Amino acid sequence: MDQTYKPSSQSRICITELMIPSYANFKGRIHAGILLSLMDKTAFACSAKHAGSYCVTASVDQVDFFQAIESGELVHLKASVNYVGNTSLVVGVRVEAEDIASGVIKHTNTCYFTMVAQDARGRPLQVPGLLLENTEDVRRFMEAKLRKDMRLHSKIRFEKKVRELDIFAQLDGLRNERCTLAFDPDYLGKKNSDFGGMIL
Ligand SMILES: CC(C)(COP(=O)(O)OP(=O)(O)OC[C@H]1O[C@@H](n2cnc3c(N)ncnc32)[C@H](O)[C@@H]1OP(=O)(O)O)[C@@H](O)C(=O)NCCC(=O)NCCS
Repeated sequence: MDQTYKPSSQSRICITELMIPSYANFKGRIHAGILLSLMDKTAFACSAKHAGSYCVTASVDQVDFFQAIESGELVHLKASVNYVGNTSLVVGVRVEAEDIASGVIKHTNTCYFTMVAQDARGRPLQVPGLLLENTEDVRRFMEAKLRKDMRLHSKIRFEKKVRELDIFAQLDGLRNERCTLAFDPDYLGKKNSDFGGMIL
């Protein structure tokens, strides 16, 4: 059992990258995939610093892009460890874009990476605990724990709903959606029962 505690200030990092034209689409806006790759790299560096070992990305929480980033802007990626489990840790990554000429900085998004520390054989490795140095650290830790619990509950609820899904009984639910059927559901329904209730 690792009894050491490290503050997030020891592993906090900021990576700055210039957005060059090859990162952008025809309108000069940066591809989301480029940003995701930069965020992943930043989360890796931060988590590996805290863990003192290699880390892999287990999951990424919802990513929303509030504003576009343009070619020629500087992107600052600020990362810190928000939460520590046993072998996993949550890294918050804040992305800001700076217009070099005006110095105006816009916050484009923040997201949370769950990283898992691994030993040399690729087995999950316990990470040092987190030393919370101020109320901001406490808030981030509690928020991350809340996010983790809610994610688990919503995953369980979603999986239950999927198990209960009966596409023929619930076709009416599509009435107000922007889709239309290109086949006769009654015909398919009959075909299903012919095949012992198996769907297609
Ligand atoms: C992530 C990974 C290491 C988990 O391995 P595992 O054998 O399932 O490990 P465990 O079940 O022992 O879980 C280890 C920790 O990871 C966490 N974890 C596992 N899957 C997770 C997920 N999808 N999201 C968040 N956390 C996850 C567990 O909660 C546990 O945390 P804790 O030790 O702090 O309690 C494994 O699934 C893996 O190697 N995935 C591929 C990672 C990768 O290649 N990423 C690059 C992108 S392709």
